[in-house]
Amino acid sequence: MHKFTKVLAAIGLATVMSQSAMAENLKLGFLVKQPEEPWFQTEWKFADQAGKDLGFDVIKIAVPDGEKTLNAIDSLAASGAKGFVICTPDPKLGPAIIAKARSYDLKVIAVDDQFVNAKGEPMDTVPLVMMAATKIGERQGEELWKEMNKRGWKVDETGVMAITANELDTARRRTSGSMEALKVAGFPEKQIYQVPTKSNDIPGAFDAANSLLVQHPKVKNWLIIGMNDNTVLGGVRATEGQGFKAPNVIGIGINGVDAVNELSKGQATGFFGSLLPSPDVHGYKSIQMLNEWVTKGVEPQKFTEVTDVVLITRENFKEELKKKGLM
Ligand code: GLA
Repeated sequence: MHKFTKVLAAIGLATVMSQSAMAENLKLGFLVKQPEEPWFQTEWKFADQAGKDLGFDVIKIAVPDGEKTLNAIDSLAASGAKGFVICTPDPKLGPAIIAKARSYDLKVIAVDDQFVNAKGEPMDTVPLVMMAATKIGERQGEELWKEMNKRGWKVDETGVMAITANELDTARRRTSGSMEALKVAGFPEKQIYQVPTKSNDIPGAFDAANSLLVQHPKVKNWLIIGMNDNTVLGGVRATEGQGFKAPNVIGIGINGVDAVNELSKGQATGFFGSLLPSPDVHGYKSIQMLNEWVTKGVEPQKFTEVTDVVLITRENFKEELKKKGLM
């Protein structure tokens, strides 16, 4: 046979083989509420890595609302998947998600956001992988306090803008932890102003922050608290719009991977840094547990808390992200 033909034949054979191998591979879903956030893209990437390492295919589906979530479960079942990991767009969908999954005999692991039942109580029988929300929130407050003292700000000229999303438990725990840490450090409670955001994205937080800023025209310096990077970025953009300069604003986000664009900007902004947890671990571990459950009947533990976190700033973000294989 001609050399070239041989190569072609080999490629053809490899294709057939990989297709038949794929047909036999176990399929597991990974459903996320906000695929536009690098946080969730990172979870997907590491779930795929787990699939490669451990031999299953990951079906990735964006589920921005309830209807898409329930449809996604139907299509997972139709494609023969045996279970899925999900960050739900709304914790209150928990009972509907579980009912539908049961009807198809699919196993479910929640990641990031915990399901709640009809009474609003956490559904703690569903295995959950999440960040140590209170602790990471407290760290946000501590780092804000540290940086404000480094800048020599006077407490009575400073206000805390806390953009909240209390219907989401992990968010409520982060922002509460942050405010608590500031109070413990000595920041006066009456200068901590809270405002709820209507949506968990930059525009939502921007609107919330603007309405808060106009109510407190005397504040000279702002500390910005929020449950994730986008929330804090919305707050920072609002301060800029109202004429505050970077030296008078300190915002510290949570997620890290969502802050890369901002931290890469040549000039410093009011967005000082971000707490980087482990989206890689969330993505890999959750689906690894699901795989063990489906293939070996190993029931996952009900609660897996991911604790490690590092503060990334303009100075160290590249290095820290590289360390975790995130850049
Ligand atoms: C929530 C937030 C995300 C991210 C995850 C981390 O889902 O909306 O931005 O912070 O928690 O667990």
